[in-house]
Amino acid sequence: MQVLFVAAECEPWAKTGGLGDVVDALARALGRIPGAVDGQVEVFLPRYASVSIPARAAVETLEITVHDPLAPGGASAVAIRSFQAPGYRLRLVDFPDAFDRAGFYGDSAGDYSDNARRFALLGRAALETRRAERRPVDLIALHDWQACPVALLRDLAYADDPIVGGAAISLTIHNLAYHGWTPRDRATQLGLGAAAASAGDAWGIDLLREGIRRAELVNTVSPTYSREVLNPAAGMGLDGDLVARGDRFVGILNGLDEELWDPAADAALAARYDASDLAGKVACRADLLARVGFDPADPSAVLGVIGRLDPQKGFDLVAGAARRLVASGARLVVLGSGDASLLAGIRAEAARAPGRIAVLERFDRELSRRIYAGADLFLMPSRFEPCGQGQMIAMRYGTPPVARRTGGLADTIVDLHADPTGGTGFLFDDATPEALAAAVERALVVFGAADRAPWQRLVARGMAVDWAWETSSAPLYAALFRRAVALRRAARG
Ligand code: GLC
Repeated sequence: MQVLFVAAECEPWAKTGGLGDVVDALARALGRIPGAVDGQVEVFLPRYASVSIPARAAVETLEITVHDPLAPGGASAVAIRSFQAPGYRLRLVDFPDAFDRAGFYGDSAGDYSDNARRFALLGRAALETRRAERRPVDLIALHDWQACPVALLRDLAYADDPIVGGAAISLTIHNLAYHGWTPRDRATQLGLGAAAASAGDAWGIDLLREGIRRAELVNTVSPTYSREVLNPAAGMGLDGDLVARGDRFVGILNGLDEELWDPAADAALAARYDASDLAGKVACRADLLARVGFDPADPSAVLGVIGRLDPQKGFDLVAGAARRLVASGARLVVLGSGDASLLAGIRAEAARAPGRIAVLERFDRELSRRIYAGADLFLMPSRFEPCGQGQMIAMRYGTPPVARRTGGLADTIVDLHADPTGGTGFLFDDATPEALAAAVERALVVFGAADRAPWQRLVARGMAVDWAWETSSAPLYAALFRRAVALRRAARG
Protein backbone atom coordinates (compact mmCIF):
# COMPACT_ATOMS: atom_id res chain seq x y z
CA MET A 1 0.00 0.00 0.00
CA GLN A 2 1.62 3.23 -1.20
CA VAL A 3 0.57 6.06 1.07
CA LEU A 4 0.81 9.84 0.66
CA PHE A 5 0.00 12.42 3.28
CA VAL A 6 -1.14 15.88 2.27
CA ALA A 7 -1.03 18.39 5.10
CA ALA A 8 -0.45 22.06 5.87
CA GLU A 9 1.73 21.33 8.90
CA CYS A 10 4.40 18.81 9.80
CA GLU A 11 6.74 19.20 12.74
CA PRO A 12 9.56 20.25 12.90
CA TRP A 13 9.28 21.87 9.48
CA ALA A 14 6.04 23.77 9.97
CA LYS A 15 3.84 23.79 13.04
CA THR A 16 1.29 25.98 14.78
CA GLY A 17 -0.39 23.22 16.78
CA GLY A 18 -0.95 19.53 17.34
CA LEU A 19 -1.70 18.88 13.67
CA GLY A 20 1.98 19.27 12.86
CA ASP A 21 3.06 16.88 15.61
CA VAL A 22 0.59 14.21 14.57
CA VAL A 23 1.38 14.32 10.85
CA ASP A 24 5.07 13.86 11.63
CA ALA A 25 4.62 11.16 14.29
CA LEU A 26 2.03 9.13 12.42
CA ALA A 27 4.01 9.15 9.16
CA ARG A 28 7.06 7.88 11.02
CA ALA A 29 5.15 5.28 13.03
CA LEU A 30 3.53 3.79 9.91
CA GLY A 31 6.98 3.31 8.42
CA ARG A 32 8.07 1.39 11.49
CA ILE A 33 5.23 -1.11 11.60
CA PRO A 34 6.17 -4.09 9.42
CA GLY A 35 3.82 -4.40 6.46
CA ALA A 36 1.76 -1.28 7.22
CA VAL A 37 2.86 0.63 4.13
CA ASP A 38 5.09 -0.01 1.14
CA GLY A 39 8.39 1.64 1.95
CA GLN A 40 7.74 4.96 3.60
CA VAL A 41 4.96 7.48 3.75
CA GLU A 42 5.51 10.53 1.53
CA VAL A 43 4.43 13.78 3.17
CA PHE A 44 3.53 16.69 0.88
CA LEU A 45 3.91 20.00 2.69
CA PRO A 46 4.08 23.60 1.44
CA ARG A 47 7.46 25.22 1.56
CA TYR A 48 6.55 28.26 3.65
CA ALA A 49 9.09 31.03 4.16
CA SER A 50 10.04 29.56 7.54
CA VAL A 51 10.71 26.02 6.31
CA SER A 52 14.43 25.48 6.26
CA ILE A 53 15.96 22.52 4.51
CA PRO A 54 18.80 21.01 6.57
CA ALA A 55 22.18 21.73 5.03
CA ARG A 56 23.10 18.04 5.10
CA ALA A 57 19.92 16.83 3.43
CA ALA A 58 20.33 15.16 0.03
CA VAL A 59 17.61 17.07 -1.78
CA GLU A 60 16.15 15.83 -5.05
CA THR A 61 14.33 18.43 -7.09
CA LEU A 62 11.58 17.59 -9.54
CA GLU A 63 10.20 20.37 -11.74
CA ILE A 64 6.56 19.95 -12.61
CA THR A 65 3.92 22.09 -14.25
CA VAL A 66 0.58 22.40 -12.54
CA HIS A 67 -2.68 23.90 -13.68
CA ASP A 68 -3.01 27.25 -11.91
CA PRO A 69 -6.10 29.23 -12.87
CA LEU A 70 -4.69 32.51 -11.54
CA ALA A 71 -1.43 32.31 -13.50
CA PRO A 72 -1.04 33.91 -16.92
CA GLY A 73 -1.35 30.99 -19.32
CA GLY A 74 -3.18 28.93 -16.69
CA ALA A 75 -0.18 26.94 -15.47
CA SER A 76 2.71 27.41 -13.08
CA ALA A 77 6.10 25.76 -12.68
CA VAL A 78 6.47 24.19 -9.25
CA ALA A 79 9.55 22.58 -7.76
CA ILE A 80 9.11 19.53 -5.56
CA ARG A 81 12.03 19.32 -3.15
CA SER A 82 12.23 15.88 -1.61
CA PHE A 83 14.50 14.55 1.08
CA GLN A 84 14.63 11.99 3.83
CA ALA A 85 13.06 13.14 7.10
CA PRO A 86 13.40 10.90 10.14
CA GLY A 87 11.08 8.03 9.21
CA TYR A 88 9.36 9.36 6.09
CA ARG A 89 10.04 11.14 2.83
CA LEU A 90 9.29 14.85 2.97
CA ARG A 91 8.20 16.43 -0.31
CA LEU A 92 8.12 20.20 -0.12
CA VAL A 93 5.96 21.99 -2.63
CA ASP A 94 8.12 24.96 -3.49
CA PHE A 95 6.10 27.67 -5.17
CA PRO A 96 7.09 31.07 -3.78
CA ASP A 97 4.12 32.95 -5.17
CA ALA A 98 1.79 30.88 -2.98
CA PHE A 99 3.89 29.82 -0.01
CA ASP A 100 6.88 32.09 0.49
CA ARG A 101 5.05 34.12 3.11
CA ALA A 102 5.48 34.58 6.84
CA GLY A 103 2.08 33.10 7.74
CA PHE A 104 0.79 29.66 6.87
CA TYR A 105 -2.86 30.67 6.60
CA GLY A 106 -2.96 34.44 6.88
CA ASP A 107 -1.56 37.54 8.52
CA SER A 108 -2.80 40.20 10.92
CA ALA A 109 -5.39 41.24 8.33
CA GLY A 110 -6.96 37.76 8.42
CA ASP A 111 -6.87 34.70 6.19
CA TYR A 112 -5.12 35.07 2.86
CA SER A 113 -7.69 35.68 0.14
CA ASP A 114 -6.02 33.15 -2.14
CA ASN A 115 -6.04 30.22 0.30
CA ALA A 116 -8.24 28.14 -2.00
CA ARG A 117 -5.69 28.54 -4.76
CA ARG A 118 -2.75 27.92 -2.43
CA PHE A 119 -4.05 24.68 -0.99
CA ALA A 120 -5.53 23.42 -4.25
CA LEU A 121 -2.05 23.91 -5.61
CA LEU A 122 -0.57 21.87 -2.77
CA GLY A 123 -2.90 18.97 -3.53
CA ARG A 124 -2.54 19.24 -7.27
CA ALA A 125 1.22 19.26 -6.94
CA ALA A 126 1.04 16.00 -4.96
CA LEU A 127 -1.05 14.34 -7.68
CA GLU A 128 1.08 15.74 -10.51
CA THR A 129 4.27 14.61 -8.80
CA ARG A 130 3.14 11.01 -8.79
CA ARG A 131 1.92 11.33 -12.37
CA ALA A 132 5.26 12.75 -13.48
CA GLU A 133 6.99 9.86 -11.74
CA ARG A 134 4.46 7.38 -13.13
CA ARG A 135 4.04 5.94 -9.65
CA PRO A 136 0.46 5.00 -8.79
CA VAL A 137 -0.70 5.67 -5.28
CA ASP A 138 -3.11 3.52 -3.27
CA LEU A 139 -4.11 5.81 -0.45
CA ILE A 140 -3.99 9.55 0.00
CA ALA A 141 -4.39 10.60 3.62
CA LEU A 142 -5.79 14.11 3.91
CA HIS A 143 -5.33 16.07 7.11
CA ASP A 144 -7.79 18.91 7.81
CA TRP A 145 -9.40 21.27 5.29
CA GLN A 146 -6.20 22.42 3.65
CA ALA A 147 -5.77 18.97 2.12
CA CYS A 148 -9.40 18.58 1.04
CA PRO A 149 -9.03 20.07 -2.44
CA VAL A 150 -7.43 16.70 -3.25
CA ALA A 151 -10.82 15.02 -2.82
CA LEU A 152 -12.43 17.43 -5.29
CA LEU A 153 -9.54 17.13 -7.71
CA ARG A 154 -9.60 13.34 -7.66
CA ASP A 155 -13.33 13.21 -8.31
CA LEU A 156 -13.72 16.12 -10.73
CA ALA A 157 -10.41 16.41 -12.55
CA TYR A 158 -8.44 13.15 -12.24
CA ALA A 159 -11.10 10.42 -11.99
CA ASP A 160 -9.95 8.78 -15.22
CA ASP A 161 -6.26 9.22 -14.63
CA PRO A 162 -4.50 5.83 -14.63
CA ILE A 163 -1.93 6.85 -12.03
CA VAL A 164 -3.88 8.74 -9.38
CA GLY A 165 -7.56 8.38 -10.36
CA GLY A 166 -7.98 5.10 -8.51
CA ALA A 167 -6.46 6.31 -5.25
CA ALA A 168 -8.53 5.88 -2.13
CA ILE A 169 -8.84 8.85 0.19
CA SER A 170 -9.00 9.01 3.94
CA LEU A 171 -9.66 12.26 5.74
CA THR A 172 -8.46 12.87 9.26
CA ILE A 173 -10.19 15.76 11.01
CA HIS A 174 -7.93 17.33 13.59
CA ASN A 175 -9.97 20.47 13.84
CA LEU A 176 -13.62 20.79 12.87
CA ALA A 177 -13.66 24.54 13.54
CA TYR A 178 -11.83 25.44 10.33
CA HIS A 179 -13.54 24.48 7.09
CA GLY A 180 -11.84 26.34 4.27
CA TRP A 181 -14.96 28.25 3.26
CA THR A 182 -14.55 29.26 -0.36
CA PRO A 183 -17.21 31.65 -1.65
CA ARG A 184 -18.43 31.13 -5.23
CA ASP A 185 -16.46 34.08 -6.55
CA ARG A 186 -13.28 32.43 -5.32
CA ALA A 187 -14.14 28.87 -6.35
CA THR A 188 -12.34 29.39 -9.66
CA GLN A 189 -9.14 29.40 -7.60
CA LEU A 190 -9.54 25.66 -7.14
CA GLY A 191 -8.83 25.14 -10.83
CA LEU A 192 -11.75 22.81 -11.39
CA GLY A 193 -13.15 24.79 -14.31
CA ALA A 194 -16.82 24.26 -15.05
CA ALA A 195 -16.87 21.19 -12.79
CA ALA A 196 -16.68 23.49 -9.75
CA ALA A 197 -20.34 24.33 -10.33
CA SER A 198 -21.27 20.76 -9.36
CA ALA A 199 -19.52 21.04 -6.00
CA GLY A 200 -20.62 22.74 -2.84
CA ASP A 201 -23.68 24.89 -2.31
CA ALA A 202 -25.05 28.05 -3.88
CA TRP A 203 -22.91 30.33 -1.67
CA GLY A 204 -19.69 28.44 -2.34
CA ILE A 205 -17.64 25.41 -1.34
CA ASP A 206 -16.93 24.22 2.20
CA LEU A 207 -13.73 22.31 1.54
CA LEU A 208 -13.87 20.23 4.72
CA ARG A 209 -17.43 19.19 3.90
CA GLU A 210 -16.31 18.10 0.43
CA GLY A 211 -13.61 16.01 2.04
CA ILE A 212 -16.10 14.45 4.45
CA ARG A 213 -18.48 13.60 1.62
CA ARG A 214 -15.93 12.30 -0.87
CA ALA A 215 -13.35 10.45 1.23
CA GLU A 216 -13.78 6.68 1.40
CA LEU A 217 -13.30 6.92 5.16
CA VAL A 218 -13.27 9.79 7.62
CA ASN A 219 -11.88 9.84 11.13
CA THR A 220 -11.28 12.24 13.91
CA VAL A 221 -8.68 11.96 16.60
CA SER A 222 -10.50 10.46 19.59
CA PRO A 223 -13.53 8.22 20.14
CA THR A 224 -15.32 10.65 22.47
CA TYR A 225 -14.92 13.57 20.07
CA SER A 226 -16.17 11.39 17.20
CA ARG A 227 -19.42 10.92 19.14
CA GLU A 228 -19.70 14.55 20.31
CA VAL A 229 -19.52 15.96 16.78
CA LEU A 230 -22.56 13.97 15.65
CA ASN A 231 -24.62 16.54 17.58
CA PRO A 232 -25.36 20.09 16.42
CA ALA A 233 -23.84 21.54 19.60
CA ALA A 234 -20.37 20.26 18.67
CA GLY A 235 -20.67 19.53 14.96
CA MET A 236 -19.75 23.02 13.72
CA GLY A 237 -22.38 22.75 11.01
CA LEU A 238 -21.03 19.43 9.74
CA ASP A 239 -22.80 17.06 12.16
CA GLY A 240 -25.32 16.11 9.47
CA ASP A 241 -22.57 15.23 7.01
CA LEU A 242 -20.77 13.18 9.63
CA VAL A 243 -23.94 11.35 10.68
CA ALA A 244 -24.56 10.59 7.01
CA ARG A 245 -21.26 8.73 6.78
CA GLY A 246 -22.46 6.17 9.32
CA ASP A 247 -19.80 3.60 10.10
CA ARG A 248 -17.46 5.25 7.61
CA PHE A 249 -16.71 7.89 10.25
CA VAL A 250 -14.69 6.71 13.24
CA GLY A 251 -12.55 8.00 16.10
CA ILE A 252 -8.90 6.96 16.46
CA LEU A 253 -7.10 8.27 19.51
CA ASN A 254 -3.79 9.97 18.76
CA GLY A 255 -0.62 8.53 20.19
CA LEU A 256 2.43 10.42 21.36
CA ASP A 257 5.93 10.14 19.96
CA GLU A 258 7.60 8.82 23.09
CA GLU A 259 11.09 9.45 21.76
CA LEU A 260 10.48 13.09 20.97
CA TRP A 261 8.74 13.54 24.31
CA ASP A 262 10.92 11.83 26.86
CA PRO A 263 11.99 13.52 30.10
CA ALA A 264 14.88 11.07 30.32
CA ALA A 265 16.35 12.34 27.04
CA ASP A 266 15.03 15.89 26.61
CA ALA A 267 17.93 18.21 25.76
CA ALA A 268 15.89 21.33 26.55
CA LEU A 269 15.64 20.43 30.23
CA ALA A 270 17.94 21.58 33.02
CA ALA A 271 18.08 17.96 34.19
CA ARG A 272 16.71 14.68 32.90
CA TYR A 273 14.63 12.22 34.86
CA ASP A 274 12.39 9.19 34.71
CA ALA A 275 9.79 7.56 36.91
CA SER A 276 12.41 5.77 39.01
CA ASP A 277 14.09 9.01 40.11
CA LEU A 278 12.35 12.36 40.00
CA ALA A 279 15.27 14.41 41.31
CA GLY A 280 15.70 15.88 37.84
CA LYS A 281 12.13 17.11 37.88
CA VAL A 282 12.86 19.10 41.03
CA ALA A 283 15.78 20.72 39.22
CA CYS A 284 13.57 21.45 36.19
CA ARG A 285 11.06 23.14 38.48
CA ALA A 286 13.70 25.42 40.00
CA ASP A 287 15.07 26.22 36.54
CA LEU A 288 11.61 27.10 35.17
CA LEU A 289 10.76 29.30 38.14
CA ALA A 290 14.05 31.18 37.89
CA ARG A 291 13.49 31.73 34.17
CA VAL A 292 10.02 33.21 34.61
CA GLY A 293 10.96 35.33 37.63
CA PHE A 294 9.22 33.32 40.34
CA ASP A 295 10.71 32.46 43.73
CA PRO A 296 12.19 28.97 43.25
CA ALA A 297 12.16 28.31 46.99
CA ASP A 298 8.39 28.83 47.27
CA PRO A 299 6.79 25.36 47.47
CA SER A 300 3.34 26.51 46.28
CA ALA A 301 1.97 24.71 43.25
CA VAL A 302 2.93 25.89 39.77
CA LEU A 303 0.26 25.48 37.10
CA GLY A 304 1.41 25.35 33.47
CA VAL A 305 -0.74 26.37 30.51
CA ILE A 306 0.47 26.01 26.90
CA GLY A 307 -1.44 26.37 23.68
CA ARG A 308 -2.37 27.98 20.43
CA LEU A 309 -4.19 31.21 21.25
CA ASP A 310 -7.55 30.07 19.98
CA PRO A 311 -10.95 30.40 21.70
CA GLN A 312 -11.01 26.58 21.66
CA LYS A 313 -8.31 26.38 24.30
CA GLY A 314 -10.16 28.29 27.04
CA PHE A 315 -7.55 30.92 27.97
CA ASP A 316 -10.48 33.09 29.04
CA LEU A 317 -11.46 30.46 31.62
CA VAL A 318 -7.95 30.57 33.01
CA ALA A 319 -8.19 34.38 33.18
CA GLY A 320 -11.54 34.14 34.90
CA ALA A 321 -10.23 31.67 37.47
CA ALA A 322 -6.82 33.32 37.95
CA ARG A 323 -7.68 35.45 40.99
CA ARG A 324 -9.18 32.50 42.83
CA LEU A 325 -6.27 30.25 41.88
CA VAL A 326 -3.76 32.77 43.16
CA ALA A 327 -5.81 33.19 46.34
CA SER A 328 -5.64 29.39 46.74
CA GLY A 329 -1.86 29.68 46.73
CA ALA A 330 -1.14 28.58 43.16
CA ARG A 331 1.12 30.23 40.60
CA LEU A 332 0.56 30.24 36.83
CA VAL A 333 2.95 30.05 33.88
CA VAL A 334 1.14 30.69 30.60
CA LEU A 335 2.75 30.21 27.16
CA GLY A 336 0.70 30.94 24.06
CA SER A 337 1.16 31.89 20.43
CA GLY A 338 -1.37 33.24 17.96
CA ASP A 339 -4.07 35.83 18.54
CA ALA A 340 -2.52 37.89 21.33
CA SER A 341 -5.83 39.53 22.23
CA LEU A 342 -6.86 36.23 23.81
CA LEU A 343 -4.18 36.82 26.45
CA ALA A 344 -5.49 40.26 27.48
CA GLY A 345 -7.49 38.87 30.39
CA ILE A 346 -4.59 36.89 31.80
CA ARG A 347 -2.21 39.81 31.30
CA ALA A 348 -4.50 42.01 33.39
CA GLU A 349 -4.49 39.39 36.15
CA ALA A 350 -0.72 39.07 35.90
CA ALA A 351 -0.34 42.82 36.45
CA ARG A 352 -2.25 42.43 39.72
CA ALA A 353 -0.24 39.43 40.89
CA PRO A 354 3.46 39.96 40.18
CA GLY A 355 5.55 36.90 40.95
CA ARG A 356 2.42 34.71 40.84
CA ILE A 357 1.42 34.81 37.15
CA ALA A 358 3.85 34.79 34.22
CA VAL A 359 2.56 35.31 30.67
CA LEU A 360 4.81 34.48 27.74
CA GLU A 361 3.42 35.25 24.33
CA ARG A 362 5.42 33.40 21.72
CA PHE A 363 5.96 30.03 20.05
CA ASP A 364 8.83 28.50 21.96
CA ARG A 365 9.54 24.78 21.65
CA GLU A 366 12.17 24.73 24.40
CA LEU A 367 10.19 26.75 26.91
CA SER A 368 7.17 24.52 26.36
CA ARG A 369 9.29 21.50 27.29
CA ARG A 370 10.55 23.29 30.40
CA ILE A 371 6.97 24.01 31.44
CA TYR A 372 5.83 20.41 30.94
CA ALA A 373 8.73 19.31 33.12
CA GLY A 374 8.88 22.14 35.64
CA ALA A 375 5.22 22.71 36.46
CA ASP A 376 3.40 20.77 39.19
CA LEU A 377 0.05 20.67 37.36
CA PHE A 378 -0.92 21.24 33.73
CA LEU A 379 -4.17 23.03 32.87
CA MET A 380 -6.22 22.28 29.76
CA PRO A 381 -9.64 23.90 30.08
CA SER A 382 -10.53 23.37 26.40
CA ARG A 383 -14.05 24.21 25.22
CA PHE A 384 -13.66 21.32 22.81
CA GLU A 385 -10.65 19.12 22.17
CA PRO A 386 -10.51 16.63 19.29
CA CYS A 387 -7.63 14.87 21.05
CA GLY A 388 -5.13 17.18 22.68
CA GLN A 389 -1.48 16.40 23.13
CA GLY A 390 -0.41 18.61 26.03
CA GLN A 391 -2.17 16.40 28.57
CA MET A 392 -0.30 13.31 27.33
CA ILE A 393 3.05 15.08 27.38
CA ALA A 394 2.33 16.48 30.83
CA MET A 395 1.54 13.01 32.24
CA ARG A 396 4.67 11.59 30.65
CA TYR A 397 6.68 14.41 32.25
CA GLY A 398 5.16 13.67 35.66
CA THR A 399 2.85 16.70 35.68
CA PRO A 400 -0.76 15.66 36.30
CA PRO A 401 -3.32 17.45 34.10
CA VAL A 402 -6.42 19.36 35.18
CA ALA A 403 -8.70 19.35 32.14
CA ARG A 404 -12.23 19.63 30.90
CA ARG A 405 -13.99 16.32 30.37
CA THR A 406 -14.37 16.70 26.62
CA GLY A 407 -13.14 14.95 23.47
CA GLY A 408 -9.74 13.35 23.72
CA LEU A 409 -9.18 14.77 27.20
CA ALA A 410 -11.97 12.51 28.45
CA ASP A 411 -10.35 9.56 26.67
CA THR A 412 -6.85 10.08 28.02
CA ILE A 413 -7.27 11.30 31.61
CA VAL A 414 -8.73 9.33 34.51
CA ASP A 415 -10.03 11.56 37.30
CA LEU A 416 -8.36 10.77 40.62
CA HIS A 417 -11.46 11.29 42.70
CA ALA A 418 -13.58 9.13 40.42
CA ASP A 419 -10.93 6.39 40.49
CA PRO A 420 -8.57 6.76 43.47
CA THR A 421 -6.39 3.81 42.49
CA GLY A 422 -6.34 4.45 38.72
CA GLY A 423 -6.52 8.24 38.45
CA THR A 424 -4.00 10.17 36.37
CA GLY A 425 -5.40 13.72 36.66
CA PHE A 426 -8.42 15.86 37.43
CA LEU A 427 -11.45 16.45 35.22
CA PHE A 428 -14.27 19.00 35.33
CA ASP A 429 -17.41 19.32 33.26
CA ASP A 430 -18.60 22.90 32.94
CA ALA A 431 -16.71 25.37 30.77
CA THR A 432 -16.68 27.96 33.55
CA PRO A 433 -13.92 29.58 35.63
CA GLU A 434 -15.66 28.23 38.75
CA ALA A 435 -15.53 24.62 37.60
CA LEU A 436 -11.89 25.00 36.54
CA ALA A 437 -10.97 26.57 39.87
CA ALA A 438 -12.81 23.88 41.84
CA ALA A 439 -10.93 21.12 39.98
CA VAL A 440 -7.60 22.85 40.60
CA GLU A 441 -8.47 23.18 44.27
CA ARG A 442 -9.17 19.43 44.44
CA ALA A 443 -5.75 18.89 42.91
CA LEU A 444 -4.07 21.32 45.31
CA VAL A 445 -5.40 19.39 48.30
CA VAL A 446 -3.68 16.23 47.06
CA PHE A 447 -0.55 18.13 46.03
CA GLY A 448 -0.18 19.87 49.38
CA ALA A 449 -1.09 16.95 51.64
CA ALA A 450 1.37 16.01 54.40
CA ASP A 451 1.22 12.43 53.12
CA ARG A 452 3.00 12.66 49.74
CA ALA A 453 2.27 9.07 48.75
CA PRO A 454 -1.07 9.64 46.99
CA TRP A 455 0.46 12.42 44.87
CA GLN A 456 3.48 10.32 44.04
CA ARG A 457 1.29 7.43 42.95
CA LEU A 458 -0.77 9.79 40.79
CA VAL A 459 2.39 11.04 39.09
CA ALA A 460 3.75 7.52 38.66
CA ARG A 461 0.55 6.26 37.01
CA GLY A 462 0.60 9.14 34.51
CA MET A 463 4.24 8.49 33.67
CA ALA A 464 3.55 4.79 33.12
CA VAL A 465 0.84 5.17 30.47
CA ASP A 466 1.85 3.72 27.10
CA TRP A 467 1.08 6.37 24.48
CA ALA A 468 3.31 4.97 21.74
CA TRP A 469 1.88 5.34 18.25
CA GLU A 470 3.06 1.86 17.37
CA THR A 471 1.04 0.27 20.17
CA SER A 472 -2.45 1.05 18.95
CA SER A 473 -3.02 4.29 17.02
CA ALA A 474 -0.82 3.64 14.01
CA PRO A 475 -2.06 0.04 13.50
CA LEU A 476 -5.62 1.41 13.57
CA TYR A 477 -4.67 3.90 10.85
CA ALA A 478 -3.08 1.15 8.79
CA ALA A 479 -6.32 -0.82 9.05
CA LEU A 480 -8.37 2.27 8.18
CA PHE A 481 -6.23 2.85 5.08
CA ARG A 482 -6.59 -0.78 3.97
CA ARG A 483 -10.34 -0.59 4.39
CA ALA A 484 -10.45 2.65 2.38
CA VAL A 485 -8.47 1.02 -0.44
CA ALA A 486 -10.84 -1.96 -0.46
CA LEU A 487 -13.88 0.33 -0.56
CA ARG A 488 -12.44 2.29 -3.47
CA ARG A 489 -11.61 -0.85 -5.43
CA ALA A 490 -15.08 -2.27 -4.82
CA ALA A 491 -16.74 0.95 -5.92
CA ARG A 492 -14.68 1.16 -9.14
CA GLY A 493 -15.42 -2.48 -9.98
C1 GLC B 1 -5.81 19.83 16.63
C2 GLC B 1 -6.80 19.58 17.75
C3 GLC B 1 -6.16 18.79 18.88
C4 GLC B 1 -5.46 17.55 18.33
C5 GLC B 1 -4.50 17.93 17.21
C6 GLC B 1 -3.83 16.73 16.58
O1 GLC B 1 -4.82 20.72 17.05
O2 GLC B 1 -7.30 20.81 18.25
O3 GLC B 1 -7.13 18.40 19.82
O4 GLC B 1 -4.76 16.92 19.35
O5 GLC B 1 -5.19 18.62 16.20
O6 GLC B 1 -4.73 15.78 16.11
